Amino acid sequence: MMPGIGTLRLPARIHVGYGTRAQLPAVAAVHGRRVLAVVDPFLTRTPFFDDLVGGMTAAGLEVKVHSDVTPELPVGTLDAAGEIARDFGPDVIVAIGGGSALDAAKLIALLAAHGGPLSAYYGENLVPGPVVPIVALPTTAGTGSEVTPVAVVSDPGRELKVGISSPFLVPAAAIVDPELTLDVPATVTAYSGIDALVHAVESYTARAFDLDFGGTLPVFTGRNALIAPIALRAAAHLGPWLPVAVATPGDREARHEVAVGALLGGIAFGSTGTHLCHALQYPIGALTKTPHGLGTGLMLPYVIDAIGDAPGMAARLAELGAAIGGPGSLRDRVVEINRQIGVPATLAEIGVTRDMLPHIAELATASKRLIAIAPIDPAPDVLLDILHRALEGVLT
Ligand SMILES: NC(=O)c1ccc[n+]([C@@H]2O[C@H](COP(=O)([O-])OP(=O)(O)OC[C@H]3O[C@@H](n4cnc5c(N)ncnc54)[C@H](O)[C@@H]3O)[C@@H](O)[C@H]2O)c1
Ligand SMILES: [Fe+2]
Repeated sequence: MMPGIGTLRLPARIHVGYGTRAQLPAVAAVHGRRVLAVVDPFLTRTPFFDDLVGGMTAAGLEVKVHSDVTPELPVGTLDAAGEIARDFGPDVIVAIGGGSALDAAKLIALLAAHGGPLSAYYGENLVPGPVVPIVALPTTAGTGSEVTPVAVVSDPGRELKVGISSPFLVPAAAIVDPELTLDVPATVTAYSGIDALVHAVESYTARAFDLDFGGTLPVFTGRNALIAPIALRAAAHLGPWLPVAVATPGDREARHEVAVGALLGGIAFGSTGTHLCHALQYPIGALTKTPHGLGTGLMLPYVIDAIGDAPGMAARLAELGAAIGGPGSLRDRVVEINRQIGVPATLAEIGVTRDMLPHIAELATASKRLIAIAPIDPAPDVLLDILHRALEGVLT
């Protein structure tokens, strides 16, 4: 079978642009009258809360609000929220917030439909059927969770955050209104935005699989002919505009470009999967308590160096570099963007020490789903080499 064919699983509706949030009541009502709104706590202190929740109520929907979203999504808090949702019996879950709130909503939709505990679904393709339909409105520009088949939780019994991935977790609709992102703090803009660029790069450089279309498809299908142009477009929106959005948060054009880029990055990686920056960030994040995007962005130049010799890779990296534009290679462009937006250049700067590296490599190797999508064979010594370079800032 020819590698590089693939499959697309997307929300039935995606609206993007300033003003699209006005679509919320109509899009939610497609699924019924009873709405559970899972809302980022920050939003309850802004005029958007009345605008969005009040708008649905005014349209005759019965809205129950859940805004108790805990950072890092400890699994116990979600199991409890799932019970509340089951009692309410929503026709639709409206998710408004950053990636954490959107992921919370996905998991509450899963629990409302199929019951707990969430640990029963850790991993891939273990969700038994459709969940309560989700309408997702991101208020950060980065994770792409509004279109992806995955949600990430933390489980006190595990060293690393753990994912639940299933095509059933793809929201029914996504409404991406950059107006909601205008007040995102600079560090959140930077880290979530660079993570979106990593999604684009890892999607475009994913390994090609020979898929067995006679069996159950994996959630993440590797290099994908339908997705490649989308990943390139994501990089083109993000590369030039992310530094502008960080430097001038009120720049409406920059916020629009970054929101579109993050959405396209989510579409891209939601089909192909991500690889080494993500496999390495999970243990780095757990050990240093640093945000997801800080770690994936920090690792990106070193991962680009490590995969550069894979067959066909030089051309793909050059295409990504050209999509971003500006002088130098893709690697050099990423180094410069990181510098401009305040992503540290080395692991040493975030408190990683040499003696931690073997454990990080070992834990990354255990992320088999991510490792399998890497375009090189990342034996433990290859990962260790990447980590040593990132520790000291050695670029080839
Ligand atoms: N499901 C996926 O596909 C996917 C992909 C990547 C990351 N993730 C997950 O997403 C999470 C990170 O998401 P994130 O980067 O969006 O951050 P976040 O959701 O954790 O939000 C960060 C902070 O910003 C606040 N915030 C959000 N929007 C705001 C706004 N418009 N104005 C002011 N404050 C705002 C939040 O209340 C929070 O305090 C991680 O837990 C990660 O594991 C999920
Ligand atoms: Fe990510």
